[in-house]
Amino acid sequence: MQHLLTGTEFDQAQLLALIALGKAIKAHPKKYSQALAGKSIVTLFEKPSLRTRVTFDIGIAKLGGHSVYLDQQNGALGKRESVKDFAANLSRWCDAIVARVFDHQTLVGLAEHGSVPVVNSLCNLYHPCQAFADFMTISENYSDLGKVKLAYLGDGNNVSHSLLLTGAILGTDVTLVCPKGHGPDVQIFQQAQALADRSGATLAVSDDIAAIEGFDVAYTDTWVSMGDTTPMEQVTDLFMPYQINQALLDRTGIRHVLHCQPAHRELEITSQVMDGPASLIMDEAENRLHIQNAILLTLLGGQH
Ligand code: CP
Ligand code: NVA
Repeated sequence: MQHLLTGTEFDQAQLLALIALGKAIKAHPKKYSQALAGKSIVTLFEKPSLRTRVTFDIGIAKLGGHSVYLDQQNGALGKRESVKDFAANLSRWCDAIVARVFDHQTLVGLAEHGSVPVVNSLCNLYHPCQAFADFMTISENYSDLGKVKLAYLGDGNNVSHSLLLTGAILGTDVTLVCPKGHGPDVQIFQQAQALADRSGATLAVSDDIAAIEGFDVAYTDTWVSMGDTTPMEQVTDLFMPYQINQALLDRTGIRHVLHCQPAHRELEITSQVMDGPASLIMDEAENRLHIQNAILLTLLGGQH
């Protein structure tokens, strides 16, 4: 049984196959309309969500499966009953668990004590479903992911970690440009570097925007992630030089822009860029649905 907890469970060939399956589902949805018939999937959320909640729910229905949404009213897992009991109970009823949690260890506990595949739909450290959708989106615009240079600007957070790890597996060069003190987790960067050594990807972290001149794609995310109580006003001045705006695109030659959303317009990205010709942001949001369906079919062994 395979889980998707960190995104490193898949090697390069498997990730490319996953992206190809996502594209096939997108192109021929009817062909997959019964691929999860008879399967029930729990999607549980300790944190808010628009895209993840809706794309899993609608996506599972489009594959003929059934989803059960558990909302934040249950609070953090492990409070009302242990993660172990939660996982053991759910495993008796459902075929997979999709979970958005505060602490990555909760996902590890669900996988350890349950007997069905567990999918990480965002935790403090990773957002693999997002990164897989992002690389599917890039691959719709660039024929060889091994030749793409991806720049991430902003906070060294869960999304940046998953971009580093996924890029490293796929052979995509990834540079993170973050203010001092807001870089990625050092251990995760080292793990990504070890994967990059195998794929040939070049990874880097810098606080200097000049590091991304000549790059192809720029990516950003909120400067304050869910679960972080820092007021946005407190970090605005520090992060503002890392905003994605038209001047940055003109200076660097970057042609495409991604953002996982929710976006804070005029903070990490301007409306001019978000709504402009370089933006692939709504394709990216749509692709969450297709790549997650590819993930579920792959983990549940559905017919495809
Ligand atoms: N990108 C993303 O995961 O969006 P939501 O938080 O709305 O699910
Ligand atoms: N880094 C953001 C991503 C939201 C999809 C957060 O964790 O809040």
